[in-house]
Amino acid sequence: MIQLDLSGLEQLISIDSVAKNSLEKNQLLHNGQGAGNNFLGWVNLPAGVNPELSGIIELTTPLREKLDCIVVIGIGGSYLGTKAVLTALRPTLALDQSAPQILFAGHQLDQAYHTQLLKHLEQKNWGIVAISKSGTTTEPALAFRLLRNALISQFGSDESRHRIIAVTDKNKGALRSLADKEQYQTYVIPDDVGGRFSVLTPVGLIPLALAGIDIRGLVNGALSQMEKCGHDRTFNNNMAAQYAAARFLLNQKGKNIEILSNFNPALHDVAEWWKQLYGESEGKDGKGIFPSSVDLTTDLHSMGQFIQEGTRNLFETTILIQKAAGDIIIPEQDDDSDQLNYLAGKSMDYVNKQAAEGTLLAHADGEVPVIRIEMDELSAYSLGELFYFFEKACGISGYMLGVNPFDQPGVEAYKKNMFALLGKPGFEEATLEIMKRLKQ
Ligand code: PA5
Repeated sequence: MIQLDLSGLEQLISIDSVAKNSLEKNQLLHNGQGAGNNFLGWVNLPAGVNPELSGIIELTTPLREKLDCIVVIGIGGSYLGTKAVLTALRPTLALDQSAPQILFAGHQLDQAYHTQLLKHLEQKNWGIVAISKSGTTTEPALAFRLLRNALISQFGSDESRHRIIAVTDKNKGALRSLADKEQYQTYVIPDDVGGRFSVLTPVGLIPLALAGIDIRGLVNGALSQMEKCGHDRTFNNNMAAQYAAARFLLNQKGKNIEILSNFNPALHDVAEWWKQLYGESEGKDGKGIFPSSVDLTTDLHSMGQFIQEGTRNLFETTILIQKAAGDIIIPEQDDDSDQLNYLAGKSMDYVNKQAAEGTLLAHADGEVPVIRIEMDELSAYSLGELFYFFEKACGISGYMLGVNPFDQPGVEAYKKNMFALLGKPGFEEATLEIMKRLKQ
C-alpha cells in the first residue's frame, strides 16, 4: 500500500486553497473534455487490461521457459516502465535463474554498448521483444535491425521468427509491416495510450511476464489506485489530486525543481520512469517543474551539498519503503576498532531509516520542503499503485499548469537535425540548411 504525507508543507502552502481546481482537473481526465483527450486510455486501463492477463501469461510462458536471455528493444515510454519494475523487483545481485535475464537495447545509440551486447548474446539462448508504438523511432529500429540479423545468423530465419515478439501499433509503422510480413507474434499498443502512460499495456506487461514478474499484482495495485483517485473521490481522499495541488502551489512559490529521492537503490529506475512521465508531460510552453532524482544516501556525498545549501528553488518528493527486504543485524566487535559498536544489535535497515529521517529533516531545515510517499513494501502490487498514482497526478498537474500533458512536440527538434545530418531521404533541404549553419 502507498500513502502520501504532505505534513512537511503545512508552513508553506495550503493545498485546500486549490482543492476545487485540482478536483475539476481530475474530472476532465474522466469526462475527456481537456487537452489531449484522445490519449486518455490509461485512465481506466487497469480495469480494462485485467481480463487479458491470463492470455498474456499463457502466451509468454513457452518463450519464458525456453530462453535464458531476452533483449527488450525500446526507448522512452517503450522501456522505462519495464526497467523500473525489474530494477525494483529483481535486484542485480540476486539473479533469478528461473526466468530469463532481461537486457535492453535501442534506448541509446552507443556503438560500444551494442557491440558488447551482440558479443554477449553469442553465448546465449536468446530472443527479442521489439517495442515501438510509432514503429519508426530510429534508436529501436536500428537496434532491431542489428539484433534481428544476429538472431537469424545464430538460429536461422525459421527459428528466429519464433523468438521475436513485436509490440506496436495495430496498423501503422515499419515495425507493424515487418512483423506482419515475417509473421511475428504481435501485441497491440492502444491508440489512446501514449508511451509514458503505457506501462500497463503490452509495452510493460509482455516483457515483465517474460521476466516472471507478477503482472497480476502490478495491475491489481494500479486498479486499487484507480479507484482511490477516481472522479467520485473527495479531495481529502484523493492522493493524486493532493499531490498535484501541492506541486502546483510549490511551483508558484518558485520551487520549480522537484527531486525524487529514495533511500533504496532498487527505486533508481522508478525515478527514471517518473522523470520521463513528468518531464515530457509538463515541460512545454515555457512552463513546468524540472524533474530530477537522487539515490540516497549515495548522492548525499555528491548532490547533498547543493540540496542543503544551493539555489533555493528545490522541493523534494521522497519514496520511503517501510518494510525493507533482507535481514542484516550489525555484529558486536571485541576491540571496536571501527567504533561502530554503538550500532551493534541494530539492523542495517534501522540505520538507513535514521539516515533518511535525519536527511529529510536537514533538507526541510534548509528550505527544501519534503513530500513523503510511504510504501509498505516493495512489491509488484505497490509498484502498480505507485505507477497509477503518479500518472493520475501527472494528468491533473499538467492541466493545472495549463499545458497539454499528453503531447511531446519538443522531442521532434533533435530528430529533425539528426535526420538532416544523416541525410535521411525527405530531409534534403534541412540537410543543406544545417550544413550551412555548421560551417559558419
Ligand atoms: O512518451 C512517449 O510518447 C515517448 O517517450 C515514446 O515512448 C518514445 O519516444 C518511444 O516512441 P515509440 O514507442 O513510438 O518508439
